[in-house]
Amino acid sequence: MCGLGTVAQGVVNVLRDNRDAITQRAGREIQLTHVASRSLKPGVELGAAEFSTDVVALCKRNDLDVVVELIGGEDTALDLVRSALENHTSVVTGNKAIIALHGTELLTLARENGCYLGFEAAVAGAIPIVAALTRSLAGNQIDWLAGIINGTSNFILTAMTQEGRTFQDALEEAQRLGYAEADPAVDVEGIDAAHKLTILAALAFDMDFRFADVYTEGIAGITAEDIEYAGQLGYRIKHLGLARRTEAGVEARVHPTLVPKGQLMANIDGVMNAVLVHGNAAGPTLLCGAGAGDRPTASAVIADLVELARGTALLPLDACDSGIKMLSVEETHSAFYLRIPALDQPGVFAKVATMLSERDISIEAVIQREQAINTESAEAWVPIVILTHKVVERVMNTAIAQVQSLPEVVGKITRIRVDQLANG
Ligand SMILES: NC(=O)c1ccc[n+]([C@@H]2O[C@H](COP(=O)([O-])OP(=O)(O)OC[C@H]3O[C@@H](n4cnc5c(N)ncnc54)[C@H](OP(=O)(O)O)[C@@H]3O)[C@@H](O)[C@H]2O)c1
Repeated sequence: MCGLGTVAQGVVNVLRDNRDAITQRAGREIQLTHVASRSLKPGVELGAAEFSTDVVALCKRNDLDVVVELIGGEDTALDLVRSALENHTSVVTGNKAIIALHGTELLTLARENGCYLGFEAAVAGAIPIVAALTRSLAGNQIDWLAGIINGTSNFILTAMTQEGRTFQDALEEAQRLGYAEADPAVDVEGIDAAHKLTILAALAFDMDFRFADVYTEGIAGITAEDIEYAGQLGYRIKHLGLARRTEAGVEARVHPTLVPKGQLMANIDGVMNAVLVHGNAAGPTLLCGAGAGDRPTASAVIADLVELARGTALLPLDACDSGIKMLSVEETHSAFYLRIPALDQPGVFAKVATMLSERDISIEAVIQREQAINTESAEAWVPIVILTHKVVERVMNTAIAQVQSLPEVVGKITRIRVDQLANG
């Protein structure tokens, strides 16, 4: 095993605590023989395993059945995984970044060297979504999937929704509780979720790993006001990864989304993760569970080890299609929530509605505050909140640009996509 951090320690502990059950299921004992990491951790009981600080040498050994890569990051981890696979040693990893960015190359390398590359732990922690897509739902054409796949963003949005906190305040709370890194950018800007969505889309649609084609937007722009208006309209705001197969191509996007309150996904709160998969035979299947943490993630790592030990691990797919067209976000269809700060004057809403209708954008619901904000001054304004029906995003972009240029619109228009999480 490379690394001795959070997840690696979870693997050591769960292998020890559940040894009998794991041995029975694997058909033999899974032995941790070597651990290499930057530093030994006091109090971590490694049993008979040898410790060294040389991760590179560990991956070059030729007496191992499997290397478990749990150091994280992109550069060293990628070199280690390549080196183990080239050396005909199977690899299990929790590293979403290297799979999202180099998955096609690494799976090819694994296949060429007759070994296995397991990455169940790379997406949504304990949730067995890789197994679900590659095994349990293998009889389906997957039409679409949607996931809450970043626990930090979900924690922040939940705290904003349930406790009325601001984004900054909820982020600080997440950092205090150890859910967010000191530099939270990878989580709150949606990059971590985009890594995971890349992997889910590749597995669901039998395609190569196309991180660069995933549209990514984080949650930093969400305000308490938007959460409040969304609630009045019957929605909750969730940070979703969405991947859909359409006739025109595959769409994959990560962004804040209004989800109907009645959907189970709207009620997945705190640091929990969930993935909703729609297969053409199974219909909708929702998997929900702990998306991170030492033992939940170790559970997924060990699942891959058990598959490998009992000889049931799937060899990497060799039928992945690199010719699938991926749609740009401008080509995708969504309904939209718009919040337009406009002067409190008669006729403004009518102008906005005309501009939308000229582009065949129909309005599903509207909230107009009775009371203006900043009433003391001549610049009294009100937010006009509109929910539209589905429209292609390119058309919505031009409509928003036109509305934004109205002299009565006094601030930046907020737009959030809406998804019913249903077919059609
Ligand atoms: N944490 C989670 O809940 C979670 C969930 C799902 C997936 N994952 C993934 O699992 C992997 C491990 O995450 P983690 O949270 O366990 O990370 P972590 O706590 O930061 O642990 C990383 C470990 O690797 C060691 N390390 C880092 N760079 C190294 C290098 N160049 N050479 C030797 N040792 C090195 C660190 O040593 P020092 O401590 O001595 O620096 C530490 O022991 C990541 O890919 C992560 O994305 C994590």
